[in-house]
Amino acid sequence: MSDEELLERARAARDTAYCPYSGFRVGAAIVDENGKIHIGCNVENAAWPLGSCAEAGAIAAMVAAGGKRIVTIAIAGGIGEQTHACTPCGACRQRIHEFADAATRILVKDDDEQWRSFTIADLLPSSFHL
Ligand code: THU
Repeated sequence: MSDEELLERARAARDTAYCPYSGFRVGAAIVDENGKIHIGCNVENAAWPLGSCAEAGAIAAMVAAGGKRIVTIAIAGGIGEQTHACTPCGACRQRIHEFADAATRILVKDDDEQWRSFTIADLLPSSFHL
């Protein structure tokens, strides 16, 4: 699958977001080590801290399907129809880190509508490991 197709899957997952409180829709699409695609969207809750991020949903779907490693994760976020720059939140950087290696690519859109590719070391330097 091309990067553009994966990004399209993230955009499509974004359309299913449940975000009545923030209005900020996020979708994530992962390619795992077997080439399988796993998607997630943010799911908010009236009790705000219970909301979950799109990346968390996609990672949970990957693990439940037997995937072990993230080869590429694409993230699309924004309010309404528009997508905006949406790099993963701090907690999701740690979640991605758990299943990433140095070659894992994290694809996000910047404010100039350009897609950028980050590594987990870019987004989470000096990370926590056990
Ligand atoms: N959100 C994500 O799904 N992923 C991120 O990495 C950043 C934030 C969601 C959480 C909440 O539902 C909404 O975006 C606004 O913060």
